[in-house]
Amino acid sequence: MAYETLIVEIEDYIALIRLNRPEALNALNARLMQELAAAVTAADRNDKVRCIVITGSDKAFAAGADVKEMAEKSFTDVFFDDLFAPEADAITRVRKPIIAAVAGYCLGGGCELAMMCDFIIAADTAKFGQPEINLGIVAGMGGTQRLTRAVGKSKAMDMNLTGRFMEAPEAERCGLVSRVVPAKDLLAEAMKAAAKIAQKSAITTMIVKEAVNRAQETTLREGILFERRMFNAAFATEDQAEGMSAFLEKREPQFRDR
Ligand code: HXC
Repeated sequence: MAYETLIVEIEDYIALIRLNRPEALNALNARLMQELAAAVTAADRNDKVRCIVITGSDKAFAAGADVKEMAEKSFTDVFFDDLFAPEADAITRVRKPIIAAVAGYCLGGGCELAMMCDFIIAADTAKFGQPEINLGIVAGMGGTQRLTRAVGKSKAMDMNLTGRFMEAPEAERCGLVSRVVPAKDLLAEAMKAAAKIAQKSAITTMIVKEAVNRAQETTLREGILFERRMFNAAFATEDQAEGMSAFLEKREPQFRDR
């Protein structure tokens, strides 16, 4: 499928999705959000994909929702449109792992999109922020919720109330990103991580994603019980037998997602 605001390539079980609105620092407009929701949903259903990478440009992952598109909207417009909520819902329903590879500005809805992904690899040029407050609005796709879970109340308050930008080292220190790499290596490092994930059984990577996400949603006791059930369920897969045989036979496993 051809997209207007994305470039999508699928190779070696990895779907690489580049946000592509360079004229607006990849600001998220309705078209881009619809295309992104469609692209990740298609990748999720494609058995030639085991991992998804979402990235932007050197200058911006995404500088937020498109202010030009939002400026004229009224309360009733955003209320009835439910601006980007269905698309965000579709993105967060994807069951395969998604890596955000972030360089440059990652602001507002851009930061919220990165946080919808399963982990963030940042270039040393990355700048994260929830500057909605400067526009007289508040975050609307997780900036007060996922950010608080990711970095704690104090920093989430700081980011949302002051609208300041957080540079990559601080983002790594507080756990917003899993690692920081030199900007020139960002895509290669993200693809290397994706390739490692793509070598595993898609069943087990999907279980891991579901179980870790469960930690954000439930009590520890319920989460541990869910993990235990999933651990047991993994023994029903052919890939468990293959993984353990390969270890004992000192060879690489050949997972078949069965
Ligand atoms: C529309 C944007 C944009 C945005 C940048 N551009 N951000 N267009 N929406 N969010 C456009 C600019 O208008 C300009 O185009 C071009 O991209 C380059 O941007 P500059 O501002 O000239 O670049 P620079 O001086 O380097 O500053 C970069 C910047 C700044 C610091 C990132 O652009 C900025 O503050 N952007 C807005 C960030 C923001 O407030 N994001 C939150 C949005 S609200 P032209 O054609 O004018 O030259 C949000 C809510 C989400 O995200 C909730 C949804 C439910």
